[in-house]
Amino acid sequence: MSHSIAVIPGDGIGNEVMPEGLRALEAAARRFGIDLNYTHFDFACCDYYLAHGRMLPEDWFDRLKGFDAIFFGAVGDPARVPDHISLWGSLLQFRRAFDQYINLRPCKLLPGIRSPLAGRDPGDMDFYVVRENTEGEYSSIGGRMFEGTEREVVIQETVMTRIGIDRVLRYAFELANRRPRRKLTSATKSNGISITMPYWDERVKAMAGHYPEVTVDQYHIDILTANFVLHPDWFDVVVASNLFGDILSDLGPACAGTIGVAPSANINPDGTYPSLFEPVHGSAPDIAGRGIANPIGQIWSAAMMLEHLGHQAAAQAIVTAFEAVLTEGDPRVLTPDIGGQGNTRTLGEAIAARIEG
Ligand code: NAI
Ligand code: MG
Repeated sequence: MSHSIAVIPGDGIGNEVMPEGLRALEAAARRFGIDLNYTHFDFACCDYYLAHGRMLPEDWFDRLKGFDAIFFGAVGDPARVPDHISLWGSLLQFRRAFDQYINLRPCKLLPGIRSPLAGRDPGDMDFYVVRENTEGEYSSIGGRMFEGTEREVVIQETVMTRIGIDRVLRYAFELANRRPRRKLTSATKSNGISITMPYWDERVKAMAGHYPEVTVDQYHIDILTANFVLHPDWFDVVVASNLFGDILSDLGPACAGTIGVAPSANINPDGTYPSLFEPVHGSAPDIAGRGIANPIGQIWSAAMMLEHLGHQAAAQAIVTAFEAVLTEGDPRVLTPDIGGQGNTRTLGEAIAARIEG
């Protein structure tokens, strides 16, 4: 089976972790007989912006829309280009135009990575945050009136649609249904936000009717954030609106340890457009150019991409490989952020060698 992949490394450490992501992909492709065809793009980075006055070429949509997936590094170089330009001009364009309405982040405590939560070990935390990625609290409906006067008024409306809610819920229920615990937690705030959040809860109830084997619970967002810290073992699949999901999808991986290992997927489950896979971290200008960035976030994103493309076993082989390397904990191999003296390449090569078996 053959897949076309658009490769966009971006800025800073994006350029350093991307080769290791590709190394892992190639190793998995060889072992499992998957045919991956890469096309490399030099746009969506600040060098491109400084040369062309824009982050993307005018025809970017047509050039990218036919790919099976986009494998992305990180964008941003705040010393040369303001962050709102680099991020809005690239990544956020992809998410919108390709209707990537699912933002998926695994929150898993890995062996050899110390959690900031005291007394937690691998196995105590293994869940997914599923964030609605296109509507909700992040709407463009609203405005400002009587600017600069005493009557100044500012309004921004939350937009929740039945289509928008149901499609993220369906994805989350399907995911929960495939996992052994079959548990889904919904983030709400229907006690305070008394119109849209009760509607969200209503749709959760309706969708739950189609998935009798999934256990469903819900928490208000305030106590839910507390429970991520106090009881990370309670969760399996957590589904949330755009704003609540934004918060939970940073808090979850943070509870699991270093940002360098966290992956994410921006998914269009209908397959009308490519989905995008990227590490959670940014371009890390403070360590860029030194070759010491942790490549696991990029490598794990590669695993999510393979899973999305239907290669469950290959995806699992990648995860098993980096877990084994972390369990071994050879300081000559590991990057400094997880206590080693190795570099991006030593860690990437060790993982690729494991993948090949
Ligand atoms: P960041 O994630 O780049 O860095 C935060 C801290 O974590 C830094 O101290 C960095 O050295 C460390 N870190 C990040 N990734 C690491 C890795 N793989 N290994 C070891 N240490 C790692 O976030 P920051 O500093 O807020 O943003 C820097 C730039 O990245 C900005 O231009 C920002 O807009 C952009 N950014 C881009 C994202 C994306 O492309 N999706 C996401 C977040 C930020
Ligand atoms: Mg965020």
